[in-house]
Amino acid sequence: MSKRLYIETVGCQMNLLDSEMVVASLRRHGYELTDQPQQADTVLFNTCSVRQHAEEKTYSSLGKLKQHKQRHPQTTIGVLGCMAQKDQQLIFARAPYVDFVVGPGQLQEIPKLIAQAKSGANQQLAVGLGRRDGSLEEIKRSHETFDPLRDPQMRSSPYQAYLRIQIGCDKFCTYCVVPNTRGPEQGRPPQQIEAEARVLADQGTKELTLLGQTVNSYRHTAGESTTRLSDLLGRLQEVEGIERLKFVTNFPGDMTDDLLHAVRDLSKVSPYLHLPLQSGSNRILQRMKRGYTLEVYDEMMTKIHDTIPGTAVSSDFIVGFCGETEDDFQLTVDAAAKYRFKNSFIFKYSERPGTRAADRLVDDVPLAVKQRRNQELLALQNQISEAGNQAFLGRAVKVLVEGPSKREIRHPSSGELVQMTGRTHCDRIVVWDGNRRQSGQLLAVTIFDASAHTLFGQVVTEHVGPEVFALRTPDA
Ligand code: 5AD
Ligand code: SF4
Repeated sequence: MSKRLYIETVGCQMNLLDSEMVVASLRRHGYELTDQPQQADTVLFNTCSVRQHAEEKTYSSLGKLKQHKQRHPQTTIGVLGCMAQKDQQLIFARAPYVDFVVGPGQLQEIPKLIAQAKSGANQQLAVGLGRRDGSLEEIKRSHETFDPLRDPQMRSSPYQAYLRIQIGCDKFCTYCVVPNTRGPEQGRPPQQIEAEARVLADQGTKELTLLGQTVNSYRHTAGESTTRLSDLLGRLQEVEGIERLKFVTNFPGDMTDDLLHAVRDLSKVSPYLHLPLQSGSNRILQRMKRGYTLEVYDEMMTKIHDTIPGTAVSSDFIVGFCGETEDDFQLTVDAAAKYRFKNSFIFKYSERPGTRAADRLVDDVPLAVKQRRNQELLALQNQISEAGNQAFLGRAVKVLVEGPSKREIRHPSSGELVQMTGRTHCDRIVVWDGNRRQSGQLLAVTIFDASAHTLFGQVVTEHVGPEVFALRTPDA
């Protein structure tokens, strides 16, 4: 009998990667994927807890399955990921028809949990230890992930893959649940990472994105020798088949010279850094416990642009954090205007139970004010992103072709031409009229139009040498 699995994933790249691993392991147990929860005999939700909205979405999806489960009690329903770790028993209380709840460190137990649920087990809970519930070693072990099981069919492009190099986070920014849900920071051994990179390259991966909550803090010590992210990049530069290396997310306080030199000197490493500033006000940064001031961030940005001129930098911001005044917000606007990020993800502060901000600070900025600040900052960022993209007009960029774009527009005069999409080395999205055979190639595309989020181009037909590519934001 074929077993059918439906899996819904929300949240960050770590979650996408975790879902890939879960699917890979369940395929080994004879499962096939279906995109209809009603047709599945096992339904899994891989969840996110970073903002309340993400949790509400999951509870609402779960609610939709209540009747289905009543009519088909043999369907197994599991909740995985950060919300599973955070809410634990609460999930059974809110959705009593859920069969099991599994934290990010217990995903390897899923085949067993499904089998037990199908043979009539009671509700099962498998989660990691809390940050005070054991020795550091025990806590770490309970949050370990089960890389490197991979499933190429789960990736949105066969040429791109994520590779986790670090688990957890030790920064404890006051607004953030991640140190609780993903446990202590742990760097994976470099040999394991390199071996996984080779497997991915053999599967056709050309662009590898290294993942960690604070990826630039990556350290792995074995005996006398310590491997840093810069060392790891040097090793991965040698992996044949991999053309581009990216890494997210960086912590501004840990941006070291050796890493900047690696980005400058290693040809495969993208001139692109995601460096969330979160706020432009020192008072708010301190309340967030980010561990740096605007002045420190400013020095870092100067160093980045001196070392790797024109490198693309992007950011995250939280607006409406506890106690944020109009003056504080204005400082954030000023910082966004000064640093001219390639793009920014802007979030309204969402209080998360179990965080220091929830325990010690008051969520006192009204929702309407958060919304207004969000829109204002977004409007400014869009202007900046569009101006940054317009600097590419008339230039050729080298694009790693991902495949037909989601809209997949067919050219009216030829069934063959479709809208294709890919990214530049500095992580800008490019679309053009092309054909599917271009997928996976590194292609020269000349840019003739630009919006805040997209470069529009045409394929260059004459020979162009690599020296003419605008790899970075042109200074002009
Ligand atoms: N509320 C709003 N945004 C948050 N982020 C993290 N925690 C919260 C929260 N409680 C944002 C930060 C982080 C990004 C991944 O999500 O900007 O960089
Ligand atoms: Fe959360 Fe801060 Fe860690 Fe990022 S660095 S995961 S924001 S605690």
